[in-house]
Amino acid sequence: MNLSQRQRRYLDIIGVDIWASRAGSRERQQSDQAPDGEDDIEQLGWDELRQAVACCTRCELHESRSRTVFGIGSPQADCLIVGEAPGAEEDRQGEPFVGPAGQLLNEMLAAIGLHRPDVFIANILKCRPPRNRDPRPEEAACCEPFLRRQISLLEPRVILAVGRVAAQRLLGTDSAIGTLRGRCHRYGDPAIPLIVTYHPAYLLRSPLEKRKAWVDLQLAREVLAERRNGAGVGASG
Ligand code: URA
Repeated sequence: MNLSQRQRRYLDIIGVDIWASRAGSRERQQSDQAPDGEDDIEQLGWDELRQAVACCTRCELHESRSRTVFGIGSPQADCLIVGEAPGAEEDRQGEPFVGPAGQLLNEMLAAIGLHRPDVFIANILKCRPPRNRDPRPEEAACCEPFLRRQISLLEPRVILAVGRVAAQRLLGTDSAIGTLRGRCHRYGDPAIPLIVTYHPAYLLRSPLEKRKAWVDLQLAREVLAERRNGAGVGASG
C-alpha cells in the first residue's frame, strides 16, 4: 500500500489502523512513509519536509549517501543561498557547506554583513553524488520539489545561486555562468530576485575571480537592502 503522509494522518485521525507487510525492505517501508508526489510535497510544513527529505528514495543517490543534507538556517531568513550538492564532509555531517568551500562561503557572506544564522543555505541536491560528480539532470529533477517547497515556505527576499549548477537549474538555462552573473534575475512566481555568483570551491581554485564575486555580492547586498526597505528592485537582467 502506498499511502501519502497526508492520507496516513487522516487515517490516523479517524482511527483506522494501517497494516503493512513485513516483507518489504527498509527503503520500501521508508518510501511508503514519504510523500509520494510533487503535490504532496507542496503541502508540507518544515518538519514534514525535513522528514520527507530524510527518507527520500526518489533517485539512486539514496543508495550511496550517508545522510541527507536538508539545508540549514532560520525559517525567517530573508536571504537564501543555493549551492550544488553535498560533498564528502557535508554527507558525513548532514550540513551544507562545512568543508573548505563552506569556510570561504562564510567569509563571502561576512563581507556583506551576513552570517550563517542570518541566511538559509540549501543545495540543488540533498544527497551527495558519488565522487562529487556533477548532478545528473534526472537527479536534480527528482530533488527539485524539495527545494521549491523550501523556497515557498521561506519566501526569501533574495536568492544567491552559487556556481553554475545552481544558477542553471534555478534559471532553467544552459547559459555560461560568466553571462549569468553580474545582474539580477527573477525566480518563480512571485518573482524573487536571484543573483548568480561563482562557487566558493571554484574561487579557491581561481582566486583572481574573487574580484568578480565581490561585485556580485555587493549587488546581492544592494538588492536585499532595497527589498528590506520595501523598495522595488532597480537592477534587472
Ligand atoms: N558544495 C556545494 O555546492 N554544497 C555544499 O553543501 C558543499 C559544497
